[in-house]
Amino acid sequence: MTQKKKLIAGNWKMNGSLQANAALLQALRDGLGVPGCGVAVAVPAPYLAQVQALVAGSEIALAAQDVSQHERGAFTGEVSVSMLRDFGARYALVGHSERRQYHGETDAVVAAKAQRALSGGVTPIVCVGETLAEREAGQTETVVKRQLAAVIHAVGHCVSEIVVAYEPVWAIGTGRTATPEQAQQVHAVLRAQLAAATESADRVLILYGGSMNAANAAELLAQPDIDGGLVGGASLKAADFLKIIAAAH
Ligand code: G3P
Repeated sequence: MTQKKKLIAGNWKMNGSLQANAALLQALRDGLGVPGCGVAVAVPAPYLAQVQALVAGSEIALAAQDVSQHERGAFTGEVSVSMLRDFGARYALVGHSERRQYHGETDAVVAAKAQRALSGGVTPIVCVGETLAEREAGQTETVVKRQLAAVIHAVGHCVSEIVVAYEPVWAIGTGRTATPEQAQQVHAVLRAQLAAATESADRVLILYGGSMNAANAAELLAQPDIDGGLVGGASLKAADFLKIIAAAH
């Protein structure tokens, strides 16, 4: 089997400004060279146009942090997949734990968003992950499988087109990373679940997210089922993000 290209995606969350974005993207472009992996940045919606221009002609793909499950109409504050496409977005995060936690997104909503993104030509990066209480109760596998099952059910045979991100909630922004073994264990569970749904499960990228940084990336990315990273805090510092990208080959 040919080695598939990993993907390192930065999730800026609600950070950035016109000035800071320009400086960050310039530093990334200057340091990137020819990356051995795919690279993307998921930016706040108001900056899609700016970042589209800043990454033009580079190896950096544009991603959104969310997408509406609806195509158009009376959904104040939402952004449709066609709008994302207008700005050249290639990916959209769906079901990030912060959306699930603070905006009440259910598995059904996340699945509808993933389906809408796919049908509109944007690759959903479907985030799954357990809370600390769920892990301590021994429910990790049950939770992530339930979250992914909803998406598999909604997208049907297109499941091989999605990207999955395993983000244990207890590791997000806490500096407490899952060990490579802990992460690999869950990634293997997700891979097996995908394999039951598609013959192309090996093609599906399963990213790890949760306090990934320049120091721990290589070890995580060396795991057989870890196909890249979804990076929060460390993606806001060009030097750190570039080191993570360099660790992915
Ligand atoms: O989506 C990325 C994420 O939630 C991880 O954030 O800051 O722990 O890398 P961070």
